[in-house]
Amino acid sequence: MKPTTLSDLWQLKKEKRKFATITAYDASFAHIFAEQGINVMLIGDSLGMTMQGFNSTLPVTIEDIAYHTRCVRAGAPDAFLIADMPFMSYATPEQGCKNAAKLMRAGANMVKIEGGSWLCDTVKMLTERSVPVCIHLGLMPQSVNILGGYKVQGRDQSSANQLINDTLALKDSGMQMLLLECVPTELARQVTEKLTTIPVIGIGAGNATDAQILVMHDALGITAKPPKFAKDFLKETGNIRDAIRLYIEQVESGIYPDQAHSFN
Ligand code: KIV
Repeated sequence: MKPTTLSDLWQLKKEKRKFATITAYDASFAHIFAEQGINVMLIGDSLGMTMQGFNSTLPVTIEDIAYHTRCVRAGAPDAFLIADMPFMSYATPEQGCKNAAKLMRAGANMVKIEGGSWLCDTVKMLTERSVPVCIHLGLMPQSVNILGGYKVQGRDQSSANQLINDTLALKDSGMQMLLLECVPTELARQVTEKLTTIPVIGIGAGNATDAQILVMHDALGITAKPPKFAKDFLKETGNIRDAIRLYIEQVESGIYPDQAHSFN
């Protein structure tokens, strides 16, 4: 297999072909995801909840993400891996560079950081030093204590405008991918259209984005109280490999997410 690169993902955007991505934390699942055709995986700090049993992502450390990135890389040698920079690991651009290096050395192809235009200097510094950056906007789980819970973001005009302005500023600073979590479908559509070359991955952001991501525990019906946008593909298929195939097919054809799994 040829390794998946950022250029491949930019090409998919150009050709308006949707792609499915998923979180992965270990070699065995990463291998199954790659074997079924998922070429992009996120080593998300959601591992704090899914793997470590905490009630937020805040306790996760850079060493935790580096460890799981190495595991996923071992199981999926050709996949494009995005590794999450955990809470407080990029509070300054310099700290961000030092910690991003640990994830790139562990096998990541790109790092993901949560936040708006305050991250412009960090994005510039990282990309100038050859670290591709995905920005996470909308519901940012690391900011749960500021946001007052896990709520849909960008519902009113001023916060929607803020999100669009942040996106454009970060694009100008060098952002190479965007992840939008829990925002209304229409806002995600506008952002996806404004970013004419950069792929936008959505989760709880409707079906107008270029790609979708799900936490693997949500896609496989493991999460006790799944969010509204999550779909249990294992329930429909009865085995993990078919569940992942169905997820990919429904994303690529635009069937998932439907209205019932989106916010309007
Ligand atoms: O950490 C994570 O799993 C995420 C999700 C939004 C996919 O960032």
